[in-house]
Amino acid sequence: MAQTLFLLPGDGIGTEIMAEVEKLIAWTNAQGLTDFSTDRGLVGGCAYDAYGEAISEDDMAKALAADAVIFGAVGGPKWDKVPYEKRPEAGLLRLRKDLQLFANLRPAICYPALADASALKREIVEGLDILIVRELTGGVYFGEPKEITDLGNGQKRAVDTQVYETYEIDRICRVAFDLARTRGKKVHSADKKNVMKSGVLWDEVAHAVAADYADVKFEHILADNCAMQLVRNPKQFDVIVTDNLFGDILSDAAAMLTGSLGMLPSASLGAPDKATGKRKALYEPVHGSAPDIAGKGIANPIAMLASFARALRYSFGMVELANRLEAAIAGVLGEGLRTGDIAQDNRKTIGTEEMGAAILRKLAA
Ligand code: NAD
Ligand code: IPM
Ligand code: MN
Repeated sequence: MAQTLFLLPGDGIGTEIMAEVEKLIAWTNAQGLTDFSTDRGLVGGCAYDAYGEAISEDDMAKALAADAVIFGAVGGPKWDKVPYEKRPEAGLLRLRKDLQLFANLRPAICYPALADASALKREIVEGLDILIVRELTGGVYFGEPKEITDLGNGQKRAVDTQVYETYEIDRICRVAFDLARTRGKKVHSADKKNVMKSGVLWDEVAHAVAADYADVKFEHILADNCAMQLVRNPKQFDVIVTDNLFGDILSDAAAMLTGSLGMLPSASLGAPDKATGKRKALYEPVHGSAPDIAGKGIANPIAMLASFARALRYSFGMVELANRLEAAIAGVLGEGLRTGDIAQDNRKTIGTEEMGAAILRKLAA
């Protein structure tokens, strides 16, 4: 039986990079390598324009039913003035929450060919392979109350609530430690326990989990120092586990170690189903809709295609095909092909479609 993919291209460059995924799926299906049936929905600003909501109930139901969701990007200045609950980003947050995608894996890998494309020196980033494990369904993103109150004296009061319970910290730390076992066997847990109660609990639970993984080295790090160390000496890190907000910020910083935000893929995973072992999953590049370059056909599709490689690996067990796709990406970079965001030495750059086509050609070779 065909496996179902629900595609949500979203806004801006989301539609441009998703087109390259669709070409890839058409090819793997035609080759008999996969048997994917795809459906497409609207999320973000385009969904607001069509339905007055950042995602429709119909598309939510399809996302819940699919074997995997492939997500582009949402947002843009066109929707700056829409009501807060209907803003484009609300569609993505609802998907994460309703699908219970608590574990967001954000790998920052510096491809050898791109060591000179980073804003940092080659020796700092060459060989870099770190994994940020970001908690995705809790913390200040979802905590209540979350409101602006008019105090009536010309002043307003805004509140966001940072809240974590033990089980939320425990399960994300276990994901981080389990993954660390398969790679560098080191976990840093980043929080602000020096100023936040949620940080105190985070650290307590992280230490308790660490005790179950004697074979994995564990270190606490304050999140601000973590940001600094990511720029100073990123190769000291293997796995970094952190909360929703710090994970958002630290992963954008880590992206630049790899050359560009356009390089960073991610996988957002739920817990394995007790009966089937299958987990809900959404695959999304770390970057946004890039309004400054949207519509120009110059966005880097690699973060999106590498996110799809993770779908092949984590949701469908197609490890060999995922490896081949990642090797094809490394291959075209090795040949010197570059989109504008990773261009070096005034080299000629190519657009989104050419990059997608080059990766597909390499995969087929
Ligand atoms: P952004 O990630 O869209 O862009 C930041 C910078 O990186 C821009 O200069 C952009 O051109 C560049 N960039 C990003 N992806 C690129 C790619 N694939 N190729 C080449 N260059 C790329 O962040 P922003 O400008 O702060 O946000 C724009 C909108 O996107 C906002 O509405 C924001 O909320 C939204 N956003 C959405 C997601 C998501 O859907 N997952 C993630 C981040 C931001
Ligand atoms: C990300 C984005 C989102 C986040 C926004 C668009 C809601 O920045 O996925 O990194 O803050 O999580
Ligand atoms: Mn972000």
